[in-house]
Amino acid sequence: MTSRDAVSILPVLQPDEERHSAAVLQLVREAIAQRGGWLAFDDYLRIVLYAPGLGYYSAGSVKIGGAGDFVTAPELSGLFGRCVARQCAQVLLLSGGDVLELGAGTGALAASVLPALQELAALPQHYYILEVSADLRARAQQRLGGLPAALRERVRWLDTMPAAPIAGVVLANEVADALPFKRFAVEDGAVLECGVGLSAAGRLIEADRPAGAELRAQVLRIAVSVAPPAGEQGEAAAPMVAGEQAAKICWPEGLRSELCPMLEPWIAAIGAALERGAVIIVDYGLSRREYYHPQRSGGTLRCHFRHRAHADALLYPGLQDITAWVDFTRVAEAADAAQLEVAGYCTQAAFLLANDIEADLAAAGGALERARLASQARQLLLPGEMGENFKVMTLTRGLEVALRAGAIQDLRRLL
Ligand SMILES: C[S@@+](CC[C@H](N)C(=O)[O-])C[C@H]1O[C@@H](n2cnc3c(N)ncnc32)[C@H](O)[C@@H]1O
Repeated sequence: MTSRDAVSILPVLQPDEERHSAAVLQLVREAIAQRGGWLAFDDYLRIVLYAPGLGYYSAGSVKIGGAGDFVTAPELSGLFGRCVARQCAQVLLLSGGDVLELGAGTGALAASVLPALQELAALPQHYYILEVSADLRARAQQRLGGLPAALRERVRWLDTMPAAPIAGVVLANEVADALPFKRFAVEDGAVLECGVGLSAAGRLIEADRPAGAELRAQVLRIAVSVAPPAGEQGEAAAPMVAGEQAAKICWPEGLRSELCPMLEPWIAAIGAALERGAVIIVDYGLSRREYYHPQRSGGTLRCHFRHRAHADALLYPGLQDITAWVDFTRVAEAADAAQLEVAGYCTQAAFLLANDIEADLAAAGGALERARLASQARQLLLPGEMGENFKVMTLTRGLEVALRAGAIQDLRRLL
């Protein structure tokens, strides 16, 4: 999602929004009380984003698109889906089978991929959609209901991952960043887990506590893997490469960042759902070294409310999106563990160019249409917009060909 127009002054809430947020806040307060006064940040996210009927994604606000809080690439332009379709077609013509889209939101990607696949004579048998939000699923059903019958009839709605693995393509645009994540801080050499508590007046406050053994081990593993090699640390530091030492060497005091333990089970489930074919994961993210670079000492957490971006995750519970960037090294490691091959990793711009976005621009009829598409393409491609912050990772199983996605750029060396 684009966040270029971050401002510090957010729009005033409407009375129904205030009531809604108060109900979510009450759920959070109850959870804090049940857990002895402190709620881990990922559990906070599970409530404010996904509590049935109340969480940001589960409730009825518009969320995605011009009238919502943020815009995604498929909502911004059909050009994105046409390029994704070309990559799908290459795989489907080899593997046959189906497309499975995870977290389809309002159905924008499916609405552009399906007609493009028809043009390419590469329609999947089924286009499965697994969307955890009942509200977004209903919006997507309405949108896809407008497709011609030959396309509409291929869409199948899932409540869980497919019972039997599919051949074909798994798509996930901006889903990994929506998985609940943990926040941590490193202070005085100690790893803290960030969470949420209540002030004496009953307001939500940030509250850190010593991290449990598992989180601490994960953070220190990250520190070790991003610390400079021993030779670069100077003589006195040379032997210090493990645990807290690595954290002290590579991170400034007070660093706060995020990690997402849900990535492994998510990728494992994707791996189990794919017999043969490719997985295309698109999201804003970085390699681990870039993600946990000392210059990014405040982390990557971002909240989105009516196209304003800010970093206060405790504001407006249930009314705003809360995300963190994706550690693509972690995705690649999880893919490895799930026996999926990391076939490619490139910027969104490189992916779209490799999948002939320029051909769509050239084919546009009429000056107005050309200008409209050129403006959309700029937002998808330019480094200051979505072109570089967004990456595309392709994972494959049982495919012997080089995917189109990697034709222009291969950033796997960064992982
Ligand atoms: C930022 S939105 C992106 C929506 C859409 N892919 C797009 O690009 O417009 C994230 C979506 O992922 C869904 N989601 C989150 N976790 C999910 C999961 N584990 N499985 C399927 N969908 C999920 C959310 O409900 C939401 O629709």
